[in-house]
Amino acid sequence: MEFEEMNRKKVAFYYFSGTGNTLLIVREMIKVFRKLNIQVEAHNMLHSDPEGIPLHKTIGIAFPVACFTTYPSVRDFLTKLPDGRGTEIFMVDTYSSFSGLLTGQIRSIVTKKNYIPIGAREIKMPNNFNFKPYREEKYARIVKKGLLQAKYFSHDIVYGISSWKPTPFIPVFLSNSGFARRVFTFMKRKYALSIDNIKCIRCGKCYKLCPVDNIEMENYPEFLDRCQLCLRCISFCPTEAIRFKEREDFYPYTAVEYEDIIQ
Ligand SMILES: Cc1cc2nc3c(=O)[nH]c(=O)nc-3n(C[C@H](O)[C@H](O)[C@H](O)COP(=O)(O)O)c2cc1C
Ligand code: SF4
Ligand code: SF4
Repeated sequence: MEFEEMNRKKVAFYYFSGTGNTLLIVREMIKVFRKLNIQVEAHNMLHSDPEGIPLHKTIGIAFPVACFTTYPSVRDFLTKLPDGRGTEIFMVDTYSSFSGLLTGQIRSIVTKKNYIPIGAREIKMPNNFNFKPYREEKYARIVKKGLLQAKYFSHDIVYGISSWKPTPFIPVFLSNSGFARRVFTFMKRKYALSIDNIKCIRCGKCYKLCPVDNIEMENYPEFLDRCQLCLRCISFCPTEAIRFKEREDFYPYTAVEYEDIIQ
């Protein structure tokens, strides 16, 4: 089939990234799409109206793996997508060790909504949730490999050779959005955040970064009860003033600069 016939000349890419790994992958894919003369628009998924997505374009979605699924707000976006009426869709996720068969979980959401799943890729990237020191050189090597995979994946999509197969067996609890909610309720308690008012310079970066408006900025930042542990605030705080209440041994990791992730 000729590439022109494939309705892949225009891509609307919706992504969420906590600490920048997924953003790096999305940027790399966009670079390749543009080289291959595909028009791409990219949107932060959590600032977008799922019901307003352009169904005449191929839809791309990208997000991190979290707790063998993905963040509740990403799942909310996906479950609010309109009837796809045969629109093509591809997905990419980033993970550090095991994704919990996430492509299968997401495939079942989008096919029920009448999208055509044309490609899925899971790309290993550095772990952003580190309770041991990590080696920068090792993480740089993982990023390099990840970017290469992103490049190949974009080619495969454009040339019609990507695939998004059903996962033969998805444990029911993983595909269920109730499971994701319960896990994150547990996680936000276990990893509750706190501010060290002595270290905090009141720059407001954490407040601006939080994707779920979980931080109020009075004199100092204060956390509400909506945290989904994306790690943005704790990782991008310039003075390491944010810590987990019960864990002192967290090692922040960021793949991009604050200015990149805030966009
Ligand atoms: C709360 C949390 C849970 C995570 N759970 C998983 C997991 O279940 N499996 C995995 O392989 N990686 C897991 N990770 C690692 C991230 O998926 C990985 O580092 C990802 O590339 C981060 O992407 P981002 O920088 O775009 O946010 C987790 C990270 C966080 C913060
Ligand atoms: S990012 Fe850090 S220094 Fe800035 S307001 Fe938040 S806690 Fe304070
Ligand atoms: S409070 Fe911090 S870790 Fe929790 S969702 Fe907001 S930015 Fe992410």
